[in-house]
Amino acid sequence: MYTCGIDVGSVSTKVVILGKKDNKIASYIIIPTGSDSKNAAIKALDNSLKKAGLADNEIEATVATGYGRINIPFADQNITEISCHARGAISLFPDLKIVIDIGGQDSKVIKLKDGKPIDFLMNDKCAAGTGRFLEVMARAMEINLEQFAPIFIKTNDKVNITSTCTVFAESEIVSLIGQGIDKNKIIKGLIYSIADKITSMVGRVGLDEPVCMAGGVAKNLGVVKALEENLGIKINIPDEPQITGALGAAYLAQNLH
Ligand SMILES: Nc1ncnc2c1ncn2[C@@H]1O[C@H](COP(=O)(O)OP(=O)(O)OP(=O)(O)O)[C@@H](O)[C@H]1O
Ligand SMILES: [Mg+2]
Repeated sequence: MYTCGIDVGSVSTKVVILGKKDNKIASYIIIPTGSDSKNAAIKALDNSLKKAGLADNEIEATVATGYGRINIPFADQNITEISCHARGAISLFPDLKIVIDIGGQDSKVIKLKDGKPIDFLMNDKCAAGTGRFLEVMARAMEINLEQFAPIFIKTNDKVNITSTCTVFAESEIVSLIGQGIDKNKIIKGLIYSIADKITSMVGRVGLDEPVCMAGGVAKNLGVVKALEENLGIKINIPDEPQITGALGAAYLAQNLH
């Protein structure tokens, strides 16, 4: 038998189907959430069942998480993102002390003890320090998010971005580009601006190793490198960091039957 974890995020909906006996991922899927989160959830489940070659009655239990978790018709239970991200990350790195999740609309730092969350900080009040900040800036600079990491690595200097608000930071970079400042240096400054915010959140819960970074922004190796540099540590990144919450939800679903 299998369990299913679904994480309906503000940007993307993730499904993981997990084997109950072997704890192996039978399939996973990441699709945009769009404007109809319920429909995205149904589509994501459907696609992941097809991908795994399973029928829906082979799924013993489903746990939903993410901001859209309350509106999933096929879920048996919904569980907070803190619990699901912690559980997913622990399944990959058993001794973990800190999980950082940076998604599209919020960022979280979770402190663990003996594999269980004991403290967390969440920024869901402001887009700065989230994936949305980088998306807005990428659009303003007419580049793809995937280009951020290679630019970060090859560029030595950065331009400090002084605005703490996403809207003001966007005007600031438009003005910097207008002044003929090297775009690569601006991008490096933007990456540090998000990494600095996460660094201060980690400082507030207290740095302890090992640390894992999850969520879509963990795919931005520029942000990962800036954070590693700020914290002076190596950060563990799952092979597919974006599905960590859904994976944790699938593990928590194993406890339901
Ligand atoms: N290949 C990639 N390279 C760089 N960044 C990426 C990539 N894929 C996704 N991202 C980033 O990940 C973000 C989305 O991450 P994720 O799917 O974890 O968010 P979410 O769970 O939908 O949001 P939230 O948890 O805040 O509701 C995007 O805003 C984008 O910045
Ligand atoms: Mg998320």
